[in-house]
Formats: sequence, structure tokens, C-alpha cells
Amino acid sequence: MSSEKRARDSLELIEFQLKERFGKEGEVRFFRACGRLDWLGSHTDYNLGLILASTVDREIIAGARLRDDGVLNLYSLNLNQEIRINIDQLFPDPAHSWANYPKGIISELKASGIEVPGLDLVVYSEIPIGANLSSSAGLEAVSLEAILGLLEVQMSRWERIQVCYRAENNFVGMPCGILDQFTVYQGGQNTVIYLDCDTLYWERIPIQFDQFQLLVIDSGKGRELVKSEYSRRREECRQIYQSLRQQGYKIAHLSQLSVEDLKEIEDKLEPVLFRRLRHIITENQRVKKARELILEKNYPALGELFTEGYLSSSRDYENSLPELDFLARLLNQLSGLWGLRIAGAGWGGCLVALVKDFAQEELEEVKKKYYEKTSLEMKYFPVKTGDIPGELGE
Ligand code: GLA
Repeated sequence: MSSEKRARDSLELIEFQLKERFGKEGEVRFFRACGRLDWLGSHTDYNLGLILASTVDREIIAGARLRDDGVLNLYSLNLNQEIRINIDQLFPDPAHSWANYPKGIISELKASGIEVPGLDLVVYSEIPIGANLSSSAGLEAVSLEAILGLLEVQMSRWERIQVCYRAENNFVGMPCGILDQFTVYQGGQNTVIYLDCDTLYWERIPIQFDQFQLLVIDSGKGRELVKSEYSRRREECRQIYQSLRQQGYKIAHLSQLSVEDLKEIEDKLEPVLFRRLRHIITENQRVKKARELILEKNYPALGELFTEGYLSSSRDYENSLPELDFLARLLNQLSGLWGLRIAGAGWGGCLVALVKDFAQEELEEVKKKYYEKTSLEMKYFPVKTGDIPGELGE
């Protein structure tokens, strides 16, 4: 089913739920935002390194309407959860973590002088939740688009990225980098984003899905560890930086080090910290090479980099899990596979495979073996790229 068809199908339902729950009167407008898929550059963004990423053609749709009574009404169709609160008293609530994203957007807008008088917002996500395709950045973006659209406030794309980024860091409390929000807002159809997170130099690299396919394989393994382990990795990176500065390295961030520097640094850091650093430095190098390979349309070689990235993540950065490693071993047997890597933060969620083609029977076989060993349900679906956030029908 095309994403337009899925979107159209959900519109009626969204409008119905919004009016049933929050009042019949008033026009409902519709907004959308996509998820993202990182192609390479795992955990490099907060180390001010390099990333390559695109949107995915899976969207979050929101139906929205302003209110004038200071009430915020939220409803998630996926989770069947409804929240009614005073818009002046927003605080993060672990019991409804999805609602923290729109709340965070409203709170960040308020901090920059944009008051929301009241809002009804009903969302439906085609982006699998908790699978590392950044349904969170999608939810931030769609909430922001709805509010700005309804209030008729102009804002540059860079400012929108910043509002979403701050909502996630300040309100939700996830100390993420800029990868997700930047990609969701600057990606778009048939495009891969190359971004240097230090200088903010970036490029849109055109791609066509005529010589390769991207296959997302959801391990069915939740991401309970992400928040704590992600914070721990950030802390480890801070320790590495401090230690190297104390030892005389005049660097502003870890991504200023090269693969050559690694040789002499090996004895200067604890083994675990050295492995973390080795991942960041080699991953930056892989992003640079991958950029060239995409420009040359050399997808088999790009696949090899995916696999190198996977091994580096799993062995050095340790953001894989035994279930993901097992699944990766099974998937490595697929004919037509050029390479695969861990999506997003890791510690569960999805793997991304770069394939020439795929045979459904082979994937079904993998699914069976994976279930036998882990009792987890694997899902898979090919993805392409999606649109930047905005109002539906624009
Ligand atoms: C999550 C974060 C991003 C990035 C990735 C890992 O998706 O939100 O900022 O750090 O993990 O590359």
C-alpha cells in the first residue's frame, strides 16, 4: 500500500476520533512528518562527526485544531491513549511517554515567546514505534508543523530543527544529537543527507532506488536500554575527551582525531574507552567513503561499509544485543545482500540491509529460525524516502 493511501485511510479515523473526543465544532487540519533512516554515522552526531541519513516513506499524521480555553487534548490512535491537561502546566510524564514530544514542542515554543492558546491533536503513526526509525523526531516535527500552521507563524527550517532538538533534550530528557531532527527536516524524496555536525556543512545527495533496495528488519526486541546506555556512552565520550585533553591533545571534540592518531592513543586510554573512540573515528571515515560510493553508485561497496559499521558498533561501541547479533548472522546468509547495519541508537530495534533484491522465502526462513531461538517476531519491509514535514495536501 502506498503511503498516500495509508495516509488517506487514517484521515477519516483521525477526524472522527478528534471530534468524538474533543468536540464536534471546528475545522480539523492535517499534517505529516516522516521517520528517518541513518545510512552510516552511528553515534557520531553528538561527537560532532559525520552522518549520512535519509527520510523513510513512513509517516506520522496529525489532525489538529486550535482551542481558546488553555486546554491541551492529545490522543494516540496507535496506543489508544487520551490525555487532557492544562497547557500552562506541562511536565514530562513517564506513564504517557509519547505525549512528552508534543508537550515538549509546546513548552519550547513558549520559551521562545510563542504561546499556544489550546490545542486538540490526534496522531496516527505508520512509523513503527521504538524501532529506531525515529518516530520520536517524526512526532516532534508533526506537532510543530501543526502548531505553526494553525497559528500561521513563519519559522525557518533550521529553527524548526532546533525547536525539535531542544524539546527532546530539555523536555523529554533524551540527550540526543542532531541526526534525527536534521534528517527529518532536510531530507526529502530521493535524497541522502551528508552532514558534518561540527561545521554544519551539509549536502543533499540525489539517489534513485533503481539499482538497490533498503530493507528494514525489525528484531521485535524493545529498546528498554536506550536511555540509560545512550547517556552512558555520552559520558564515556566525555571522559575520553577530558583524558586526551589532559594528555595534551588540543582537540575541540573527538571527531577531530584521525585513524592515524588511534595508533598512538591506544596505550593512553582504558581498553573500553579506546574501543568507543575507535568506533567513532572509523565510523567518521566510513561516512566519508560512503558519500563517495553513493556518488559513484557503487552499492555493493557501500554494503561492505554497512557491515564494517555493524561490526564496529557491535564490538567496539557495544550498542547491539545478542538477539540483534543472532539475527544479523542469519540475515548474512541471504542471497542479494550487500551489507547490513544497526539502525539509530541500537540496543534493539531494527537492522537495515542494503540489498540488490530480496527473496521473500529466504526472509521467511530467517524469521522462522529467529523465532525458534528467541521467541521474538521479526518483521521486514522495504523502505524508500519520504517527504519533508508539512501540511497534507500542500
Ligand atoms: C539516536 C539519537 C541520535 C543519534 C543516534 C545514534 O537516534 O537520537 O541523535 O545519536 O541515536 O547515531
